Amino acid sequence: MDHFLYHNGILHAEDVPLPRIAAQVGTPFYCYSTATLTRHYRLFDEALAGMDHLICYAMKANSNQAVLRLMAGLGAGVDVVSGGEYARARAAGFAGDKIVFSGVGKTRDEMRAALLGGIRQFNLESEPEMLALNEVALSLGVVAPVTIRVNPDVDAKTHEKIATGKSENKFGIPIARARAVYAEAAALPGLAVVGIDVHIGSQLTDLEPFRQAYLKVAELTRILRADGHDIRRLDLGGGLGIPYERANTAPPLPIEYGQLVQEVLGDLDCEIEIEPGRLIAGNAGVLVASVIYVKHGEGRDFLIVDAAMNDLVRPSMYGAHHDIVPVVEPAPGLDPARYDVVGPVCESGDTFAKSRLMPILMPDDLVAFRSAGAYGAVMASEYNTRPLIPEVLVHGDQFAVIRARPSFDEIINRDTIPEWL
Ligand code: LLP
Repeated sequence: MDHFLYHNGILHAEDVPLPRIAAQVGTPFYCYSTATLTRHYRLFDEALAGMDHLICYAMKANSNQAVLRLMAGLGAGVDVVSGGEYARARAAGFAGDKIVFSGVGKTRDEMRAALLGGIRQFNLESEPEMLALNEVALSLGVVAPVTIRVNPDVDAKTHEKIATGKSENKFGIPIARARAVYAEAAALPGLAVVGIDVHIGSQLTDLEPFRQAYLKVAELTRILRADGHDIRRLDLGGGLGIPYERANTAPPLPIEYGQLVQEVLGDLDCEIEIEPGRLIAGNAGVLVASVIYVKHGEGRDFLIVDAAMNDLVRPSMYGAHHDIVPVVEPAPGLDPARYDVVGPVCESGDTFAKSRLMPILMPDDLVAFRSAGAYGAVMASEYNTRPLIPEVLVHGDQFAVIRARPSFDEIINRDTIPEWL
């Protein structure tokens, strides 16, 4: 459930009609709901209530400072994957001991910044990375808390670009090598092993791959403890999917995921960390665009909107589906039309939907792309010198621009012309 509902035929974000925001900030824009973000965080919190746990919001899904501040205020931890995300976490008010640092290619500079600024744990992904962190920690005279990400060789049954738990993927160390690598880590004086990390992929719509992976983690926990390692934390990653196609999909709920975690890992007396991103932010956001033209093509009609692949890349990058709905509900009884919904960018790949059944729309009508709160704004670019679109946060009957649209001058002035030209 989210807080984007029609009231009197007008789509609202909580208590704010979307046309009111459009009139003030112009289209296209992203709009997020505080109540939905909060609700989704709490669903996970409740799902793990029986266990010692920390929900480390994966900020790669949506890293706006206002969203992060909201999460920090709810008591969340945060998962970061770059020095930039680490800086964002600190700027938004996360204490160092609430920040976990994931990613396959952490640089020494990033390690140093996190060790100096405070860190809950590094999730290490390879032996070279382990040796580098040991050196950095020793050079600073500190001990770095670490987990090692294991690759359980489980098929997450999701889009190949976002599956991470198979042996052919670049992530983690093969679980079969875990004992040897943990032994190596334990021998390094700059590292303190605190647990195990796993993340098998994103947009999982079935609990079974999670079960398979977590069973392997449970077995490994027992083995590593017997080897003398202090395994007290299990970071289970993120990945729970959301219903992008509301009419046809119903992925498992956080409460069901929580029951699975409890069932498979509950008797290990470990602190559980999870790193959800999409489920918290995805359905907490919409992208609102205007229709520029309706173009009648050969055997098809194109709905040309003012948002494009640079604003929301998921459809062109992953063939992803986003529900697209009119902001003003059509009068009942009108026949729908079929549209190819496209943006203005000069690529055929700039297509959001093909032959989509929608109400008849006219130029200047507003449409909302649902489920756009995660991996939307964060993946946007300024391709075609289209300014990054504004982000708006709604709270009850209030709204605020949480990132303004840059002017053309601001974009152009980021470039510099060498003096010899
Ligand atoms: N933890 C780690 C180590 C991850 O790599 C990811 C996502 C997450 C947590 C959060 O997963 P989530 O709960 O959001 O599924 N751009 C793609 C998604 C990429 C996900 C990358 N890793 C998309 O738009 O579908």
